[in-house]
Amino acid sequence: MSAFSRVLVTGGAGMIGRRVLTQLRELGVEAAVLDNLSGGLPMPETAALAVCGDIRDSSALDKLIRNFRPVAILHLAAVHHIPTCEAQRAYCLDVNVTGTENVLCAAENNGIGRVAVASSGAVYAWENNELSEDHSPLWPCDNYALAKTCNESQLRFWTQRTGGIGRAARIFNTIAHDDPNAHLIPDIAAQLRNDTGAAILRLGNLTSKRDYLHADDTASGLIALLRDNRQTIAYDSFNICSGIERSVEELVRGIAALLGREIRIESDPSRQRKIDRPSQLGNPEKARRQLGWTARMAFDEALSATILQK
Ligand SMILES: NC(=O)c1ccc[n+]([C@@H]2O[C@H](COP(=O)([O-])OP(=O)(O)OC[C@H]3O[C@@H](n4cnc5c(N)ncnc54)[C@H](O)[C@@H]3O)[C@@H](O)[C@H]2O)c1
Repeated sequence: MSAFSRVLVTGGAGMIGRRVLTQLRELGVEAAVLDNLSGGLPMPETAALAVCGDIRDSSALDKLIRNFRPVAILHLAAVHHIPTCEAQRAYCLDVNVTGTENVLCAAENNGIGRVAVASSGAVYAWENNELSEDHSPLWPCDNYALAKTCNESQLRFWTQRTGGIGRAARIFNTIAHDDPNAHLIPDIAAQLRNDTGAAILRLGNLTSKRDYLHADDTASGLIALLRDNRQTIAYDSFNICSGIERSVEELVRGIAALLGREIRIESDPSRQRKIDRPSQLGNPEKARRQLGWTARMAFDEALSATILQK
């Protein structure tokens, strides 16, 4: 069986996972999904097998794997909303760390030799330069980033234990029209829906910059990483990012131009995150060089698809 013929995608109903499913189908790869649908999006119809279940439920995982016999797992299921991860710290660690351990154990018990895990650009220490896999230090500064940093070590230990191939995707700020999490763009869209005139947006920190890419590009990056065939490299990590960052203010100006609306911004201290890094810019060079992957949609195109698509 080819190393890439049948894939289990945990969290496959999420904003990124459902796009991975669509792209896998286009490549002729069968995919199963395990998702408890807590994110709020429905199960994608593109799944060859769809199971509504929790990654912390070992027997559900084992049963699915025995039925479907995947050759690889792409593990995306997680509590992803950072304020929720702060407010419900133990729950976040239970799903994101213990849940990941469960997925890795199930892979080990069933002889699956390839696992890719969604990590995050948030694992890097706060720096104002480009963040690169092989040179930038890791220093998680919130509970979500702590879990993702732990996931990378869990995956590395799994490769050492099992001889499997493990790849960690350090995903940067991914946007799409159907983002179910209360991120910046869904927040702006909700405020604009309730306001038809010259809008006043109340936002937290306006100067913080992020590296935005569209979820279609993130999905293709994850597939490239899952297909990385260098057998001699047991464990590796890759930035999935655009390499360009924008401030909140630039984002809002872009949205105003797309909607042809006059938008004024007011800083609202109650919306400011207690922990909010000023910059998070990824260097995409390693993914381009090793995986042949780069984000295809420019920022304006990604923003337009996010804001104008229903
Ligand atoms: N969106 C981003 O900007 C971004 C950035 C960095 C990393 N990531 C990571 O990429 C992955 C996918 O992100 P996304 O944006 O699609 O998030 P999402 O919230 O849209 O998708 C996550 C999916 O996981 C499912 N899930 C949550 N807890 C579960 C559990 N206990 N058992 C089974 N399923 C469960 C949810 O129902 C949801 O469908 C996540 O691991 C996330 O942390 C995302």
